[in-house]
Amino acid sequence: MGKKFRIAVLSGDGIGPEVMAEALNVLDAVEGRFQVKFERTFANVGGIAIDKEGKALPDRTVEICKASDAILFGSVGGPKWEDLPPDEQPERGALLPLRKIFGLYANLRPAIIFPALTGASSLKEEVIAGGFNILVVRELTGGIYFSQPKGIEGEGRERVGIDTMRYSVPEIERIAHVAFKAAQKRDRRVTSIDKANVLSTSVLWREVVEAIGREYPDVELNHMYVDNGAMQLVRKPKQFDVLLCENMFGDILSDEAAMLTGSLGMLPSASLAEGAFGMYEPSGGSAPDIADQGIANPIAQILSASMMLHYSCNMVEAAEAIDGAVQKVLDKGFRTSDIYQGRTGETQVSTSEMGAAVIAALQEK
Ligand code: IPM
Ligand code: MG
Repeated sequence: MGKKFRIAVLSGDGIGPEVMAEALNVLDAVEGRFQVKFERTFANVGGIAIDKEGKALPDRTVEICKASDAILFGSVGGPKWEDLPPDEQPERGALLPLRKIFGLYANLRPAIIFPALTGASSLKEEVIAGGFNILVVRELTGGIYFSQPKGIEGEGRERVGIDTMRYSVPEIERIAHVAFKAAQKRDRRVTSIDKANVLSTSVLWREVVEAIGREYPDVELNHMYVDNGAMQLVRKPKQFDVLLCENMFGDILSDEAAMLTGSLGMLPSASLAEGAFGMYEPSGGSAPDIADQGIANPIAQILSASMMLHYSCNMVEAAEAIDGAVQKVLDKGFRTSDIYQGRTGETQVSTSEMGAAVIAALQEK
């Protein structure tokens, strides 16, 4: 008897359903090769959920997620829903509550330059020669996103907008542990990002991270102000291994780091709760402009499924098999339009051709 996992599949909007289809095909192939079964339940999220069930995160969807071992998430949002009040929009109305309800406090966002794609980066070749591999570890359920009080108060010109940034010692400790543990499996370096020259939360953050760091003597820790960090990322990205960030700094720096790779359609992410539960989604958005044309890059979604195998299913070997298959396909020159550069040896392929190529590589021995 093999293992069995229950997966909530939330494909969402835009290119979500197309790229999800390829990730699910890859999971089929994993079932064929490893002793495992993925029981999938589909649920609406984002704009399509607003259209069909009246809100971005319907109760039914939450129930399905609760009954699952992991959430495989596509992407949400599009021009159709942009005029709704912010709290009801697909992104905010679905993502923020999912993070809170499931306690997804640890967000892992790898920013990797694939050697085959260094030409796609916005940085000069000499800055990125040899590639880079950064992991942004972002705190995801605290800080200015969620702390109270929050809101707009008063009338007319007396109105004030209020956001509160608050971090407790345990909140900082648990995300710091995630960063140090991740670093132990990588290049053993953590750069903790803060604004300790201005913010009290950052002063506490730095102190707590420093203390946790002493429990990991094999990992080198340094601290950097967020403004300098933003600058250093474009100046010399190779200096970073793990970037440990509070919620908003991580939001900003993870987009910057992802863009530097030039391959946003390639980057997965994981949002983890305590224990094995997690939500896995591509770093890029729903890309409504290229939806339904069969040209979207499914690799970010496929690698998100791989992260799910790694963190929620404890199937490291299967996860590595998927990552290896993706690598092989890129080395062979297969490119969806977003990463096609017209170089010799490159073949432009569709979404489904890319998915099929990954599966073929996965089945090669
Ligand atoms: C992200 C997004 C979200 C965030 C938005 C859509 C609420 O930018 O996942 O990075 O700010 O966390
Ligand atoms: Mg963001």
